[in-house]
Amino acid sequence: MPAKIFILFIYSCSLLSSCFDKSSEKKFIIGFSQCVDSDKWRQTMLEEMKRELAFHENITFIYKVADDRSDKQVEQVKELMKQDLDLLIISPNEANPLTPVVEEVYKKGIPVIVIDRKVASRAYTAYIGADNYEVGKLAGQYAVNLLNKKGTVTEVLGLAGSSPAIERHKGFTDAIKDYPEIKLVTQIPGQWLRSKAVAEVTKRNAEVKQTDLVFAHNDMMAIGTREALEKTNPGNQLKIIGIDALPGNDAGLEFVADKKITASVLYPTGGDEAIRLALRILNKQEFKKVNILNTLVVDSSNVRLMKLQSEKIISQQQDIEKQQALVEEQKRVYNNQRTFTGILAVALLLLLFLGGAVFYSWRKNKKITNKLQLKNDEISSQQKQLIEMSEKAEVAHQAKLNFFTNLSHEFRTPLTLILSPLEELLANEKMQSGNRQTLQLVHRNVMRLYRLVNQLMDFRKIEFSKMKVRASENDLVTFVKEITESYEVLARKKQVGLRFFTNERVLPTWFDVTMIDKVIFNLLSNAFKFTKENGFIHVTVSKSADMAIIKVEDNGVGMGPNALEHAFEPFFQGEYENYKGSGLGLALSKEFIEMHHGQIFVSSEKWKGTCFEIKLPLGKDHLQAEELIDNPDEDTRAEDAKMYTTELMNDTEELQENLALGNNGNRACVLVIEDNDDLRYYLTSRLSRANDVLEADNGLTALDIAFANIPDIIICDVMIPGKNGLDVTRILKNDVRTAHIPIILLTARNEEQQRIEGLETKADAYLTKPFNLQLVHETVKNLLTNREKMKSHYSTETFNEEKSPAGKKLERKFISEFCGIVENNIANEKFSVDDICKHMAISRIQLYRKVKQVLNCNVNDYIITTRLQKAKYYMQHENLSISEIAYKTGFSSAAYFSTVFKSKFGTTPSDFKSRKN
Ligand code: FRU
Repeated sequence: MPAKIFILFIYSCSLLSSCFDKSSEKKFIIGFSQCVDSDKWRQTMLEEMKRELAFHENITFIYKVADDRSDKQVEQVKELMKQDLDLLIISPNEANPLTPVVEEVYKKGIPVIVIDRKVASRAYTAYIGADNYEVGKLAGQYAVNLLNKKGTVTEVLGLAGSSPAIERHKGFTDAIKDYPEIKLVTQIPGQWLRSKAVAEVTKRNAEVKQTDLVFAHNDMMAIGTREALEKTNPGNQLKIIGIDALPGNDAGLEFVADKKITASVLYPTGGDEAIRLALRILNKQEFKKVNILNTLVVDSSNVRLMKLQSEKIISQQQDIEKQQALVEEQKRVYNNQRTFTGILAVALLLLLFLGGAVFYSWRKNKKITNKLQLKNDEISSQQKQLIEMSEKAEVAHQAKLNFFTNLSHEFRTPLTLILSPLEELLANEKMQSGNRQTLQLVHRNVMRLYRLVNQLMDFRKIEFSKMKVRASENDLVTFVKEITESYEVLARKKQVGLRFFTNERVLPTWFDVTMIDKVIFNLLSNAFKFTKENGFIHVTVSKSADMAIIKVEDNGVGMGPNALEHAFEPFFQGEYENYKGSGLGLALSKEFIEMHHGQIFVSSEKWKGTCFEIKLPLGKDHLQAEELIDNPDEDTRAEDAKMYTTELMNDTEELQENLALGNNGNRACVLVIEDNDDLRYYLTSRLSRANDVLEADNGLTALDIAFANIPDIIICDVMIPGKNGLDVTRILKNDVRTAHIPIILLTARNEEQQRIEGLETKADAYLTKPFNLQLVHETVKNLLTNREKMKSHYSTETFNEEKSPAGKKLERKFISEFCGIVENNIANEKFSVDDICKHMAISRIQLYRKVKQVLNCNVNDYIITTRLQKAKYYMQHENLSISEIAYKTGFSSAAYFSTVFKSKFGTTPSDFKSRKN
């Protein structure tokens, strides 16, 4: 913005300055070289010039006067030449001495106006002045009249070398030459000067007074003559004729009017005309080279009129001068005002621009302010909404917690009532193993519920600050060691290397036993949950300065950065689908530790392991008096041990055994895919009574097991980690090896759309949770029966593809491929099961199972049967020897062929052949 204002300002200034430009007229320099200016005539000439120049401001006027000296005038002209003259006006003192310099100026291209007196060449631009010859002639004619054509004349001459003196003399003598009685008898050199005339006439007084008339070349010399004669002959009546007839005091017109001289010939100065002529020349307008001014004789007859006219002119000129002065003043005032107005205008413009800028900034600011205001309002309203939302969330959170707390309270009594009789039942050693396992499943889950209920209640108590630390002094080494030991059975069962380390013999520490044992149990339970077989869990107790340190470290699955960041947040569910807990254990542990003014840290790396570290301050100074008790509260470790470890005591050995089992005898092989350990266990244990059961807790493992074992039927949960149930179904149903396996999808989702989705994957049945076990049994049985029917259908038709319309596309493909390979290798005695596997890119076990299921026969049996069928055909239709037939059907010898044939058909090949023939 400031840059814009500056540019506008500069622009306006240039605009203003162009307005104030005084004139677009061209500027000129005019030099004026005057021969002399001591007399009134020349002063009048100068005044006239100046008066005229006043109307032309574009002219610079340089004035030089030579004081009657020709040499000086030459010098002055040369000086003027150096000043870039546009035009020279010159009244040369004498013609000859000034001619060269005037020519030089003229030749240089500078216009020259010669005024009044002349030079001795025509090398000038223009001449202005009255015709001196004419003036002299008029004076002569007037003298003839005055003398009545008879008398003597004295001539008082101007400067000898000057042109007017020469021309006036010639004009005068020419006028009187026709009158012989008029004689020019005396000539007196007056040099144009009054004083010179007085002196010379006085000197030659006697001579002059004898003549009848004096012709003086100008009025000044005329009055000088009168003055000289008056001195010697006062009152003499000598007629005197002068030249110039200048108005004003002590000048020609007055002399005539006062009868001091008889007449004067008007010789105008031409000052104003000279300036006008100069301008025409400079402006390249038309002009005349010779400009002759008018003249006339002034005597007593017209002097009054002339005087009046002259006075009028003088007064008018004075008026003009006054007006000019006024104009000058006005101009000055105007210029001042113009300058002032200019400054004012610039200031105004500046003000305008600044005003504009201020307005612009104000508008911009206002817009920004408005925007900010809007943003602010928006933020405020969002803030309000957030506050409201968080209040609502808090209320909802509280309501949820209240609900859980109340529910937990309600749960505890029935849980206790379930737990006690259950434990009584489990104590019965005579119980059947199947029943025991079922009851143990119930026990584990009751304990799990019991622990969750307790955790929820503890959490609630902390939130309402109802839970207080009740610290007593205990040996931390013994305390942690005993808790660790309670996991030994589990560790052995899971084959996890559980070890306890310490350098301290004892480590007396003040803590709340009910709180810290929950913390240690929780950490150890977590470690067991996430540590696989052959892993390790190390528990360490140590001391550092004023802190007791407990570390629980494992080399289990570990946590990713996100899980690590939120590990201690309440209700945070970890990243392992099948290990999801309540999200309360670690949050609660952190609360308990902080209530002890301690700290809990976790470090973990995915697939490498996790380490929890607890720091508890030693001594009791950090605890309030009311937080200290003398004797520890009732030891809850036994109860906690039960709560935390029972859940982990799955019958893993049995599960492993189940996994290891293959399809066997007439028992169907069922693959159960379910991520919930208990539900999987429940299903496998129930199904394993009549079937061989394989199990998987995620989609990827399930696919591996399915391809490796080709089970007879699959029960699959939809919501499982890895690949979900729908994906697993789709993959298995689209693979030639597994397409025949019936699949039952099992899920809690019961919406119509999902059911359709399930069936679209070609699943054979769809059961929703909670399911009825009987229904599962029935569905499994039905699907297996259907399968059997289909199998017998295939086998009785002896692999005739066209006659197996019920066969699914993939199965037809399998059968034709399998039969084709066998057919093509019928003569190949080295042909084996491995060759088929290679051709079909499947394993031996897959081939055996698939052929068993689809064709209901053994692969080797099938090959032998096909060879024998072919042999039969040869025997019936071709005239070949037994050996040839044996050879053509892949038997290594005729004897072996006969043995096999006989065992199959109950007769030797030769008997069969001879019977046939
Ligand atoms: C003035 C003057 C005039 C005369 C003219 C001639 O200096 O003497 O009186 O007419 O010069 O150049």
